[in-house]
Amino acid sequence: MDLDAHVRLVESQMRTLLVPSEPALQPFYGMMSYHLGWLDAQFRPIQADGGKRLRPLICLLACEALGGDIQRALPAAAGIELLHNFSLIHDDIQDNSPMRRHRETVWHLWGMPQAINAGDGMLILAHLALQPLQERGVPPATVVQTLRVLDQTCFRLCQGQYLDIAFEQREAVDVEEYLRMIGGKTASLIAASAEIGAMLATDGSQAIAASREFGWELGLAFQMVDDILGIWGDPQVTGKSAASDILSRKKTLPILFALQHLPASSAAAFGRVYAQERLAEEDVPQILGWLEQAGARADVIQRAELHTQRALAALDRTGGSGPAQEQLRALAQSFLKRSF
Ligand code: IPE
Ligand code: IPE
Ligand code: MG
Ligand code: MG
Repeated sequence: MDLDAHVRLVESQMRTLLVPSEPALQPFYGMMSYHLGWLDAQFRPIQADGGKRLRPLICLLACEALGGDIQRALPAAAGIELLHNFSLIHDDIQDNSPMRRHRETVWHLWGMPQAINAGDGMLILAHLALQPLQERGVPPATVVQTLRVLDQTCFRLCQGQYLDIAFEQREAVDVEEYLRMIGGKTASLIAASAEIGAMLATDGSQAIAASREFGWELGLAFQMVDDILGIWGDPQVTGKSAASDILSRKKTLPILFALQHLPASSAAAFGRVYAQERLAEEDVPQILGWLEQAGARADVIQRAELHTQRALAALDRTGGSGPAQEQLRALAQSFLKRSF
């Protein structure tokens, strides 16, 4: 099955929403189009890395696997990807990240005030993107329900981002709290992608719930792998700066596992270093040493595998079939091995 064709469909659907109305506003659209990989920093057309487009793919495949028409789901897929990109533009400000997708971030190029505004614009476009659903034959009640899911998801995402940022200032965070945080910031949108795809194919509440559960478990696994990449990933491959999660004292899963599993004296020393007001580049090798000593990376991989298994079990319960169902399975498995 050619997933590139699906991605191209999503891209052109997204492009219909980003047409500048007047010359003075071209840079506003330009910043958003830059972030999506369509323009360079001088706003000239370019084909740059605009991200993996995983969430709209999950939406379309979930729809297709349940016998739905992907043309009907395209507006929702485009809206989901725009919502994801709104969250990234703002996340890069919140995380003080200068690089994403191998390029400078929007705030780093154009400053925070305009980056906040570009993110806000993209959030609203994510909502407007859903308007054509009705023209494509989706019943009004389903359109309203789709919008409700998208809104609830967006709010959960902001809650997750709140916890993620709040945890930077906390010394201790337990795994339950961590799961709530990544559930909000990451799993909720991947869950919504699979749920909305199913909703646009069927009224069957069991299939919709199982599809959502598939996306939820997959989202948890996805963020755990992202946590690994945030520490051990190669910036040349991830396109994001290395060690920034450590420097901002993020309570990612490798850190929590190391604090739990190190011998008491090392855990206390690690805890003291990680609680410092400011972490320096020089602290990083020592922290990496503790993570290694604790075997934190293998623990996180094991936990991500567990959630992937749960995702695959839920996928089986959706009752989906055919090549799209197999693509969803393959996609879920590939998440564990991803390097970017
Ligand atoms: C990055 O998501 C943010 C997380 C939720 C971990 P992706 O890794 O899907 O980002 P892109 O869109 O492919 O760049
Ligand atoms: C991912 O945040 C979730 C959102 C953007 C909402 P992270 O801060 O963990 O992701 P990266 O590593 O910057 O992509
Ligand atoms: Mg973040
Ligand atoms: Mg970030």
